[in-house]
Amino acid sequence: MNNPKKIDNQVMVIFGASGDLTYRKLLPAIFDLYENKLLPSHFAVLGVSRTNFTDHAFRDKMEKGIKQFSHYKNAPQARIDLFLSKVSYLSMDTGNGNEYGALKKRLSEINLKYKTDKNYIFYLSTPPQLYAKIPKFLYGQGLNLEHKGFRRIIIEKPFGHDLKSAQELNRQLLDFFNEDQIYRIDHYLGKETVQNLMVTRFANGIYEPLWNRNYIQHVEVSTVESIGVEGRGGYYDEAGALRDMVQNHLMQLIALIAMEPPTKINAEAIKYEKMKVFQALHPLSESDLKNNVIRGQYSASKIRGESVLGYREEKSVDKKSRTETFFAMKCFIDNWRWAGVPFYIRTGKRMPTRVSEIVIHFKPSPQQLFHQNEDNDNQLILRIQPDEGILLKTGMKMPGNGYEVKSVNMDFHYTDLDDHYIPEAYERLILDCMAGDSTLFMDGPSLEETWKFVQPILTYWENDKKAPLYGYPAGSWGPDKIDDLIEGENQKWRYPCKNLSDDGIYCEL
Ligand code: BG6
Repeated sequence: MNNPKKIDNQVMVIFGASGDLTYRKLLPAIFDLYENKLLPSHFAVLGVSRTNFTDHAFRDKMEKGIKQFSHYKNAPQARIDLFLSKVSYLSMDTGNGNEYGALKKRLSEINLKYKTDKNYIFYLSTPPQLYAKIPKFLYGQGLNLEHKGFRRIIIEKPFGHDLKSAQELNRQLLDFFNEDQIYRIDHYLGKETVQNLMVTRFANGIYEPLWNRNYIQHVEVSTVESIGVEGRGGYYDEAGALRDMVQNHLMQLIALIAMEPPTKINAEAIKYEKMKVFQALHPLSESDLKNNVIRGQYSASKIRGESVLGYREEKSVDKKSRTETFFAMKCFIDNWRWAGVPFYIRTGKRMPTRVSEIVIHFKPSPQQLFHQNEDNDNQLILRIQPDEGILLKTGMKMPGNGYEVKSVNMDFHYTDLDDHYIPEAYERLILDCMAGDSTLFMDGPSLEETWKFVQPILTYWENDKKAPLYGYPAGSWGPDKIDDLIEGENQKWRYPCKNLSDDGIYCEL
């Protein structure tokens, strides 16, 4: 990963350092940056949380994380040791303002030792109840003030539980930090293939003339996973698929597909265009809520011969839970480009495979001269994961007599590139924050706008206890009912891996 941006010397302070995210994602990503020679010459990491680790014990744990999850898991031990010598730990109760004096003192020591120029990033990877408290306590110690180095704060998701709490959190944060110091993370924006959505659209002249209601029939956005709740039942049962995936990741994908070309590639111009998409989302009427929104919950089943628990049997999940593990919706964007074009979105846990992709379905040719197979619509498929790439489905003549048309694939895979080091989302986002570039982060107002759009769904489910929750067997594609959402000729969900291989690898059809 090359990086033309200048990165100042700095300390990354990670709150919630004993948690899973730090172990699996954050420290391995920082190590990858280190191995890619993208970190400044003077930097340090300080892990902070309540667990009683010594520096040594914390480094041991992080070493295991690096060896399991880093791109450079096989790096020479001496490199790992050198990196870890810049990592230390402070055990404190981050919910108690009286303990922040110790943090300030520790930061001064680190700053002297590692010559980090008093530049600090505070990464909040804690339970959300601390998202407003920590900034307040940092402010109490003057650790928000930028006159002697920069101070930035990264906030993990979930950002709010509903519209009101998201607005309240934004308000609280702005009491203690300025908007340009706040980096609200959505890891989907750090994915290479998500950034490629903009490049595909705006670096190629051929797509733009077609990218509108005149040529596009409908758009599908799917992010489905084969995993269940993976030990996060407590969190997930409170959140559900709408909060966990739709309000953030899927909304961001929709914005990148639907936005107008920005005037420049910078944070301000891109955020401005994305905001216009969120504001143009057609508000959901009562009838939309009843007919165009579907939720489901997985039940026990067998996947490739192995028994899988139902959602209600998962650890820390309410036995009578009505939380959705699957969500699908049809929605519209009220602007000239997209008027009348349905966007179908779906996300779910315990699906047959893991796929995130966007499918642009083009309208058929105006006159059908040849015999067409029914599945012969032109589709542009932007595959975000796992098999990153782009696929164009187009009709070709079958060899032989007559004019039989067959759908063929023009397929590009990222892995075909000579240098296909694909940085992890966290690697890119951490680096951008280190460089002070917030292009791939969410700003407060647009985040509130996404909550405004989904809030009526939450309110409907809360108030109408009879709002249906459909069951679906684990390992299936969700409730059959979702076929009702897609109506009309040539409109049906794409099932990317009907011929799923035995090992569960995504197979293109
Ligand atoms: C997270 C959700 O934000 O995204 C998880 O909380 C989900 O429930 C994950 O599994 C999916 O991310 P990815 O990068 O694996 O698609």
